[in-house]
This record gives sequence, structure tokens and C-alpha cells, in this order.
Amino acid sequence: MSNDGEHRRDQGTVFDRPGEPRTRGSIPTPALICDLGLLLENIRRMSQLTRSAGVALRPHVKSHKSAYIARHQLDAGAVGLSFAKLAEAEVVVERLAEDDVPVSVLLTSPIVGSASAERAAHLARRCELIVVVDHVDGVNELDLALATSDAGISVVCDVDVGLGRTGVTGPESALEVVERIERSPRLHFAGVQGYGGHLQHLAGRDQRREATIESNSRLVSVIDVLESAGHPVTLRTGGGTGTSGIDLELGILNELQAGSYVFMDREYRDALGADEEGRFAQSLTIATTVISANQSGFVTVDAGLKSMATDAGPPAVLGREDAVSYHFFGDEHGLVTNPPNGRFIRGDRLELVPPHCDPTVDRYDDLWLVDGDVVVGVVEVTARGCSQ
Ligand SMILES: Cc1ncc(COP(=O)(O)O)c(C=O)c1O
Repeated sequence: MSNDGEHRRDQGTVFDRPGEPRTRGSIPTPALICDLGLLLENIRRMSQLTRSAGVALRPHVKSHKSAYIARHQLDAGAVGLSFAKLAEAEVVVERLAEDDVPVSVLLTSPIVGSASAERAAHLARRCELIVVVDHVDGVNELDLALATSDAGISVVCDVDVGLGRTGVTGPESALEVVERIERSPRLHFAGVQGYGGHLQHLAGRDQRREATIESNSRLVSVIDVLESAGHPVTLRTGGGTGTSGIDLELGILNELQAGSYVFMDREYRDALGADEEGRFAQSLTIATTVISANQSGFVTVDAGLKSMATDAGPPAVLGREDAVSYHFFGDEHGLVTNPPNGRFIRGDRLELVPPHCDPTVDRYDDLWLVDGDVVVGVVEVTARGCSQ
């Protein structure tokens, strides 16, 4: 969405209309705030880690849903982008095309039905498209959709490595899917996906490493069967922030799909602690204002259930994690305990570390970019609500 024809909100342009906030403390709350320096350092660090391990990085856009951040990731060397949903990919590809940025897209969830397959065929005319499939019917649908198109689609066989959410459940069904892909002149078999979502938040690096090895063994058994049957498995994609360092060490995956590392969140911080996978900065916060301070022991802030995803518990209060705690206080409000040696007053501003970044970002139209106390830009959450 362009703004006034002059400002491109996906490019991080600061509004210059009278009254637009210029300081962090004047952004209307609740608001989603990102420290630009920390974000760019996270992007640089993951790029450098993957590059030195000889593994490609295809960051997952589901975490930030922002064409602006995707552009930074591509500029830092990402080979392409991962998307959960067609609609996310459609809108971000369109934004990037406005700046002539070519992109390779991986759709990491299977799509179902002729309408979705036709949308994929349409998208494939605008970018390199790789789609995961976990059933022969999915291959049939893509093949049919491409029959009247001059585009081609690369197909990856999604393998269940223990999460149980999607993916073929063993080598026989993988072979069936891949043989069907190979019979289509319009489809190209690219490789396998093994995403261990159940591993990402396992606390304790040794435990996470052991579980990752076990989960990889499922992927390797599929790869072995496919290769013995004459189907080279070129692409081995998967992984998230929580297993990133382990995936790079083990070398089974040759492409990493990590997403949350750009922001991190309270849930990841609690699970990863000081482990190397946790050494990404907390760049995302929710700014909130104390709207009532008439009670003793706590104040009421303007960020409640509507301001963040709540599946991972309450947020932490930035910089005061040990002194005060946040409690949900209804749709529009939160309760923050008063610190023992200080007192919040009406009008005070606090920042909360979101419990779970991806679904929190999806609740906001805007992402404010700050450098310390200075607002350096505001960008649209390009793919907000694009869940179909
Ligand atoms: C298929 C897939 N790949 C990669 C990721 C990124 O994981 P993370 O955000 O933990 O880095 C996700 C996140 O849910 C995912 O579903």
C-alpha cells in the first residue's frame, strides 16, 4: 500500500506530516516497535552464520510479514524467502517487484484444491516458485493448473520429521509423491523439506541436539530411499531459530528457514537462555501507556488481549523483567505490578517483550522503526492478515 503517492510505507519512510511522531515516546500506543539496529544485527548475524557453514538461508516471512524486512534479508544474502501461505507470498512478491527485486519463493505448507493450485501457477509467472507437497493429489492439482500456463513450478516433498503437522509419514509415500512429480513435464522435483517445529523450543541445548538428530534420521531415511531409486535430492530445506546452530553443525539440511531470529520473543528467550541459538537480540516490543494508577500495587496499561498473541503466556516488561510483572486484564488492558522501589504513574510508558512474535506482528498495520529514542521510520506489516 503506497501512501499519498509520495511515501512508500514498505520502504520505511518517516511520515513528514505535521504531528507525526518523531520520538519513541510519542508513538500512539499500543504500538509495535522495532529497534532497527538490533534487527539489522540479527539479520547480519544469521547471514554470516549460515554463510560460514555453507548452508543457504531462506528466512521465513511468517515471522515479520514485512516486505521491508524481507528486502534487508535478501540484501544480506538470503537465497530467497519462505512463506506459510499463498496470500503472504502474493503480496510480498508484488511489493518487491515494484523495486525490481527478483525473489525465489518457497511455500512451506501444502496447498489444497484447484483454486489454490491456479493461484500458485499465476504466482509462478512472477517469481521462481517452489511448493511443498505431501500427497499425490497435491501434485495432480499443480500439474493440472500448469496445463494452460507457460510457467513451471519446482516441487519439494514435505516429510514429517516428528511434528506430525504435515508431510509424508515415510519413504514409501515419499517415493509415490516424487514419482508422480517426475512424470509431469511442467513440474521439477527439487528436494525435501523436514521442519521440526516440535524441536524449536526444547529447553537445554543437549536435549535439543539429541532430538534434532533423531528427527533428522527420519529425513535421511527418506533421502536414502529417493536417491537409491534414482531421484537426486538436491534441496534439503527446514529448520528454525531454535535449532539453527545445531542444524548448521549437523549438516543434513542445506537450506535454513529460520524466521523468529529477526525479532526473538519471550518464549524463545526463556527456552534458549544463553545457548548460541538464543544469541539474537530482542528487537521487537509493544509500547504501552499507563492509563490508570489509582490502585495500590498495580497500574493498568492500554495493551491487553487484542495487542498480542497470548498462546505463550504473558509478555515481559522490557528492562524490568525481575522487578515487575504483566498480567492480562481483558481485551484492551493489562495489569502491571508496581516495582517495590518505585511507582508508575498515569501517563508512564512501558515496553513489553511479546510472548510470541509471529502472531503478535499479525495484529498490527504498522511497524515503527526506532534508533534509541528517535523514530527512524514506519513500515507496513505488508502481509498482515494474509492467511489464505
Ligand atoms: C515450516 C516452517 N519453517 C520455518 C519456521 C521458522 O521457525 P522460527 O520462527 O522458529 O525460526 C516455521 C515457523 O513456524 C515454520 O512453520
